[in-house]
Amino acid sequence: MKVSFKLNGNPVEVEVPPNEILLDTLRLRLGVKGPKRGCERAECGTCTVLLDGKPVYSCNILTVQVDGSSVQTIEGIANDELGRRLAESFSKEGAVQCGFCTPGFVTTSYALVKSLHEVSDEQIKKYIEGNLCRCTGYKKIVDAIKNVISSQRK
Ligand code: FES
Ligand code: FES
Repeated sequence: MKVSFKLNGNPVEVEVPPNEILLDTLRLRLGVKGPKRGCERAECGTCTVLLDGKPVYSCNILTVQVDGSSVQTIEGIANDELGRRLAESFSKEGAVQCGFCTPGFVTTSYALVKSLHEVSDEQIKKYIEGNLCRCTGYKKIVDAIKNVISSQRK
């Protein structure tokens, strides 16, 4: 099936089997390797992308479902000022160790920071609960996100 969508702002047209997941289309057909293959069971969040601005697991959505939509991956987000600030804040706060979860966390956080300019720690924790990190503990990640949110208010 032919599927057309915007990928990081650029139009893409790709021929895929109807049962292909978006994660495979991104990584194997389009060479977009930022979304990582983790659990493949919609549990870990390493494959997170934004679909029309909302975080989704790309292992849990068929490519045909994104026809006509806008998909953002960490590659696009990292080229954006807000994405860069988030990545820097993760690094500064020590919220990155092995780094495997980081693209997913930054992608999810980007959507949060873009939509809300004031949130409590509890709201941040709730928002990122679909992303798992086995290295850092979550405090540093929450701090990294909080720093970017508070810098937006200045
Ligand atoms: S690989 Fe998609 S949620 Fe884990
Ligand atoms: S930094 Fe290793 S899983 Fe999060």
